[in-house]
Amino acid sequence: MIQSPEYITVLQPYVPGKPIEELERELGISNSIKLASNENPLGPSPEAVKAIKDSFADLNRYPDGAGYYLKNALSQMLSVSPDELILGNGSNELLDIAARTYLQAGDEAVMASPSFVVYGMAVQSVGGRSVQVPLKDYRHDLEAMAAAITPRTKMVFIANPNNPTGTINTKDEFDAFMEKTTDNMLVVVDEAYYEYVSAPDYADSMKQFSAGRNILILRTFSKIYGLAGLRIGYGIAKKEILTDMNRLREPFNTNSLAQKAALAALRDKAHVSNSRKINAEGKEYLYQQLTSLGISYVPTEANFIFIPIKDSIAINNGLMKKGVIIRPMGPMAIRVTIGLPEENRRFIEALKEVITS
Ligand SMILES: Cc1ncc(COP(=O)(O)O)c(C=O)c1O
Repeated sequence: MIQSPEYITVLQPYVPGKPIEELERELGISNSIKLASNENPLGPSPEAVKAIKDSFADLNRYPDGAGYYLKNALSQMLSVSPDELILGNGSNELLDIAARTYLQAGDEAVMASPSFVVYGMAVQSVGGRSVQVPLKDYRHDLEAMAAAITPRTKMVFIANPNNPTGTINTKDEFDAFMEKTTDNMLVVVDEAYYEYVSAPDYADSMKQFSAGRNILILRTFSKIYGLAGLRIGYGIAKKEILTDMNRLREPFNTNSLAQKAALAALRDKAHVSNSRKINAEGKEYLYQQLTSLGISYVPTEANFIFIPIKDSIAINNGLMKKGVIIRPMGPMAIRVTIGLPEENRRFIEALKEVITS
């Protein structure tokens, strides 16, 4: 029988947040809400929707594999050269390409735990070894991560803000960490929730990029830009790194509708600032309500809140029966995406009922 390598057979497939339709089909309910996948509850920018509709007639054509217009717009916004940008089918694809570009079987990649599970999967898929460093006070322990670097370390993954905890690392912590990295490793800084951050001391990854470091900064149109369904994200790195990553990138990895929508979404500054505002207000509401229920939470810089809570699996099941989909994080925590005001209210009402039943 045909056999895949052992490092593939031990891989656990990614378990996504439950789709609304699936839950409703299973439980025979309707009117459910999904606060499980850190999506933008406002939806996509109307400008992005219009841009897609306007390009339906061109779907017989392959997309622009180089993403010329989108990369140009990003290059202006970020003051980098277009050849310091790479587009991905979601930032997720770029995590995968980076691992395939820089890791060989047996190489090590340092990452935090818990953090975004895809890092470990990308490393494992090429036979690499994940070195998992526990979070400290729900944040990346960058000192311990630096101490975990060995001559075999070829990559480091830092989620800033971290998923699932929503915490950030500061400028000083990050700069000190970068001093301890070497020239033969790539530091991937995953900033999927970058646009939500308001902390003044948030790490400045672009400064390290400008200093010429081996850094790949990843951002996405899936979160604040509300385009998760189209799958488009981007990476910023120096040209030599992207030359190598582009060798492995599929020629048409980002589709034409995604490129057009992303370009329009980037220009719709009002939608972005409105999304940030709704999130900030929802966050305050949830903080107040959780506090009054005597439930502690981890303050977040992203669009979701990590809530350490006993019996999280039972709580998750109870919430699901009430049509509220959140994300259990093992037996001791849940993660809830900040939704629209009425969704947040529904979550709180359902939570009250579940914990008192
Ligand atoms: C930390 C982090 N990185 C990357 C991603 C993947 O995003 P994308 O939709 O751009 O692939 C997510 C999605 O949830 C995330 O939480």
